[in-house]
Amino acid sequence: MSQDSTNQQWGGRFSEATDAFVARFTASVDFDQRMFRQDIQGSVAHAKMLCAVGVLTTTERDDIVRGLEEIRMQIERGQFQWSVALEDVHMNIEAALTEKIGLAGKKLHTGRSRNDQVATDIRLYLRDEIDFIATEISRLQTGLITLAEQESETIMPGFTHLQTAQPVTFGHHLLAWNEMLQRDYERLLDCRKRINILPLGSAALAGTTYPLDRHMTAELLGFDRPCENSLDAVSDRDFAIEFCAAASLVLTHLSRASEELILWTSAQFDFINLPDRFCTGSSIMPQKKNPDVPELVRGKTGRVNGNLISLLTLMKGQPLAYNKDNQEDKEPLFDTIDTVKGCVRAFADMVPALQPKRDNMRRAALQGFATATDLADYLVRKGLPFRDAHEVVGKSVAAGIASNKDLSEMSLAELQTFSDLISSDVFDVLTLEGSVQARDHIGGTAPAQVRAAAQRAREMIKTR
Ligand code: ARG
Repeated sequence: MSQDSTNQQWGGRFSEATDAFVARFTASVDFDQRMFRQDIQGSVAHAKMLCAVGVLTTTERDDIVRGLEEIRMQIERGQFQWSVALEDVHMNIEAALTEKIGLAGKKLHTGRSRNDQVATDIRLYLRDEIDFIATEISRLQTGLITLAEQESETIMPGFTHLQTAQPVTFGHHLLAWNEMLQRDYERLLDCRKRINILPLGSAALAGTTYPLDRHMTAELLGFDRPCENSLDAVSDRDFAIEFCAAASLVLTHLSRASEELILWTSAQFDFINLPDRFCTGSSIMPQKKNPDVPELVRGKTGRVNGNLISLLTLMKGQPLAYNKDNQEDKEPLFDTIDTVKGCVRAFADMVPALQPKRDNMRRAALQGFATATDLADYLVRKGLPFRDAHEVVGKSVAAGIASNKDLSEMSLAELQTFSDLISSDVFDVLTLEGSVQARDHIGGTAPAQVRAAAQRAREMIKTR
């Protein structure tokens, strides 16, 4: 990167060159160069519009478009010389264009400011990234739904307070994760609607004296419409904050799922095997296989939450319109994008590879008297008031603890000592299978309901 200290972009007003440290301190090119495609895309649309309204000749437009395409290819090939003295991606590309095509290059910035330019670039960039993240979330959801269908009959303990509560199917549990991600997907697409509005044409803050056709630029760039207010357009970063908030929820959900995977791969739970390729070993303890991928996802949630707070804090004190503070929006935003992409990808790769240990799950569901509520409900159906049923079952659980037997493992005679309302049909509800099958309504854990829910979830994804 070259560091020449004169700045040809505003040299006119200045009597001395920028201090070398200040040039580095104020530069953003190190991190905003990743938006080079969007910067060029925006400039091409701007030049086409300027030509359509008579500000540029067709030759000037064609030179600009060709020059910018060449620059794009140069950057893609790693042959572009970025300069810190030229501060940011915008001025680097504009200077290179002028060097390449001469006079016409100097006309590109007509009716435009870096303030509306950068706001446009970020929106274009984020829009592309959201589309990618949404596709990855769909891939993850498809993996969850497929596994849920496969595991619709697999019984595991369901927990509240991390204590065994009632039996659920593993498929049902996986579809709970899918619901979280479904909301995340919808949130991202909703946020995209407010991103997809064009700042360009707002110029520095007040609009411009040129007869711009902002609707044309919007259409060329695939935006729904131009921003309504120039002051707001150059200073609004709500869209980045909204994205970061949606991203925080994605990570919160993945972090919760990670926590469960970490528990389930422990020797104490031993519900699933996570293939070796998603784990690492220990340099000192030869027996160790650590669930690094879920642990890292859980850990990375912290930085994504931090980025959200950074952006909120960045904006809270800013008067209208653009302030240099806004340059600080990029690193937290980009870090969030990169982190979410990495974590969703890791999960999308990992979920189809999960190997459930069905016998262990079932065995765990037989501990902790998971069907106690079913026995109480049974007694209520036989005419006992719920409170009395609760008492009867409490006593039978106490007996089960003493004799180290699950309710479903007791004989009919044993069970009848707690209540004479109990008859042989009790085993239909007391078994794990009976318990899950009985929760046979929309949203319930019955295998048939899980399969139907998976089918509906699949349909939702198909319509995307
Ligand atoms: N690099 C700047 C940013 O990221 C671009 C806009 C600068 N505008 C200005 N008037 N200094 O926000």
